[in-house]
Amino acid sequence: MAGADPKAEAARRRTFAIISHPDAGKTTLTEKFLLYGGALGNEAGTVKAREGRRSATSDWMDLEQQRGISITSAALQFEYRGCIMNLLDTPGHRDFSEDTYRVLAAADAAVMVLDAAKGIEPQTLKLFEVCREREIPFLTFINKWDRPGKGPLELLDEIENTLIVEPTPVTWPVGIPGDFRGLIDQSNGEYTRFERTARGSTMAPEEQVSADDAEKRDGEWWSGAQEEAELLREVGRTVDQKSFLACESTPVFFGSAMTNFGIRFLLDGVTDLVPAPGPRLQADGTRRDVDAPFSGMVFKVQAGMDKAHRDRIAFVRVCSGEFDRGMTAIAGRTGRQFSTKYAQTLFGQDRETVDTAYPGDILGLVNANDLRVGDAVYVDKPCEWPPLPAFAPEYFMRARVKDTSKFKQFRKGVSQLDEEGAVQVLRDEHTGDSQPILAAVGPMQFEVANHRLENEFGAPMELTSTRFTIARKTDEESTPALRAMQGVDVLERADGTHLALFESKYWMDRVLQDHPELTLERMIAEGGLG
Ligand code: G4P
Repeated sequence: MAGADPKAEAARRRTFAIISHPDAGKTTLTEKFLLYGGALGNEAGTVKAREGRRSATSDWMDLEQQRGISITSAALQFEYRGCIMNLLDTPGHRDFSEDTYRVLAAADAAVMVLDAAKGIEPQTLKLFEVCREREIPFLTFINKWDRPGKGPLELLDEIENTLIVEPTPVTWPVGIPGDFRGLIDQSNGEYTRFERTARGSTMAPEEQVSADDAEKRDGEWWSGAQEEAELLREVGRTVDQKSFLACESTPVFFGSAMTNFGIRFLLDGVTDLVPAPGPRLQADGTRRDVDAPFSGMVFKVQAGMDKAHRDRIAFVRVCSGEFDRGMTAIAGRTGRQFSTKYAQTLFGQDRETVDTAYPGDILGLVNANDLRVGDAVYVDKPCEWPPLPAFAPEYFMRARVKDTSKFKQFRKGVSQLDEEGAVQVLRDEHTGDSQPILAAVGPMQFEVANHRLENEFGAPMELTSTRFTIARKTDEESTPALRAMQGVDVLERADGTHLALFESKYWMDRVLQDHPELTLERMIAEGGLG
């Protein structure tokens, strides 16, 4: 509805992402959110086709055809209790944590999904570190309570000791993992029992049960859970919005995405706790109010999503004002105007044209070729966002085109991948554009780059390993001295950043020690998170 008040519209938006270790249940939970949001009619099961999803390639490459929802779609929108929920997709694999970081830059909160039997897994930890780095508050959903796993207190301890964040249960489970009866609502002590439905394809029927009744029906399970829940309340282990927003505590929910137990509590928690889009921090340190003229932030650029059209989509989070399709916006970095005639939202494989959007919403701008990750788009009042920091690459490969007659395509492809942020491209002053060094946070990024150069640009490349293993940001002044050293080289990114590459951490530490006068800045995730 065009012409609405952006402030009021922002107030009913909840923009969040789900993060999890692969297999913890992110896809199933997404599906159930849509079920509870009424976006699937009354039956789950359309988020489909999991075949082949465990193959080694990336989340969005070949798998996008097979899997639909969480790959080609950057965001899903559904309504719940009067709120408009924007659920952002994050890649599951650790090699793409830089992408996750960018997606989280467009989210106001995250839901971290844990498998009750496994607790905190390596990728959970890594993603959590990304949340902390971005100061994104997060809710925790302990999933798969329908089958045997760790005890609830043990899981709380694990969260507290591993993440150093205080877990504050919103619900407390009745029944052991594997024999899950219901949940106690910690805000009022009420007990809700659930019933299973066939394959969890419809919402789980709920029943409010009095203490007496609970005692009769669930005996020890009930009394044990009740005691624990009371104790947790007494010691103040209850939700605290302030420490949640400061990433110092995490509201914890228990449930089962498969049987739908606890999904409603979790969605209620998202609407109650996740902050609505607020004034956004700009590069100059001021904030842009949600009712300022339209502005947005590009958090992902993806090409080749529609093979038939070979288009390139810039995904934008609306930060202020009202977006109206067809408006002429300005790309902040270049100052050029562009048309927003082809603005879309994505739902699984289906694209829909979006006419109006408000703060917190996600737009896909088709063929807005000027836009790169981190860029601002706006009308009337210029704006610029704080730069998205690049992750420290740990893998460095030299790339050259296999068939030299395809050099032009190779160069175009490489610069496209660079602009999308799919891989960092470093220029070597000796070999120029013909043999750039590709730098990645995880090796799977090379697989994606290779696949895309071959399939989208028809210019397969050859990658050879280099001796470098670690990088730091440097500057022009320090470059000559670094270049003169053994085991070090300085390469340049297209944005003008100089990166000093070292053969080993040991060697880098020596240089740091012996030459404190040189600029060698750490980047995010140096040495790997988790
Ligand atoms: P992901 O996106 O985080 O990788 O996880 P996904 O939802 O695909 O779930 C991974 C596996 O865990 C799936 O089983 C899924 O059915 C199962 N699962 C998810 N939530 C629950 C839950 O609450 N309880 C139980 N018991 N299982 C759950 P699969 O066998 O790999 O796939 P499928 O044959 O079920 O489709």
